[in-house]
Amino acid sequence: MSMAVFSRAISAFVLLLLYNFSEAREILVGGNADGWKIPSTQSESLNQWAGNSRFVVGDSLVWKYDSGKDSVLQVNKEDYMNCNTSKPIEEYKDGNTKVKLDRSGPFYFISGAEGHCDKGQKLVVVVLSSRRGYTGISPTPSPVEFEGPAVAPTSSGTSLQGGLMVALWVFAFGIF
Ligand SMILES: *[C@@H]1O[C@H](CO)[C@@H](O)[C@H](O)[C@H]1NC(C)=O
Repeated sequence: MSMAVFSRAISAFVLLLLYNFSEAREILVGGNADGWKIPSTQSESLNQWAGNSRFVVGDSLVWKYDSGKDSVLQVNKEDYMNCNTSKPIEEYKDGNTKVKLDRSGPFYFISGAEGHCDKGQKLVVVVLSSRRGYTGISPTPSPVEFEGPAVAPTSSGTSLQGGLMVALWVFAFGIF
């Protein structure tokens, strides 16, 4: 590896660190404004979506839905498993729900609409304490990690940065 390429790789790495320390994100559940609904296929499932994303303490989840027809219930694991809507930890029904992920560990959400949870409208996200935890450790980084999940319109800076990081990653290491 030539010196120039080496130093550019170092720069890319520093930028990657900066990116990882950058401000908390707002993550739109399901990746689009129509994301909180009964999944029509397995690949559309919210947990499949969540598995392709990284959540760290300080990030917020954002749900968009018709407040007349749906809601978001934060529940414990048991109620998540059983789709039990009777005693949620929190209930949100304003149609534009934002929940800050304020601790590490799992968060469980189900739809409050009758029968929706049973049909798969449920979500578990596992929140990491720090984005540093996986930097450079993942043996096969996927593009998703660097593009990040879809972010709310307010965070355009973050997605720009994400694009930059993808370019830098490709340049510095020549791989995805
Ligand atoms: C749902 O949860 C409530 C309160 O925890 C409990 O009393 C009830 O039996 C549960 N219902 C089912 C169907 O599990």
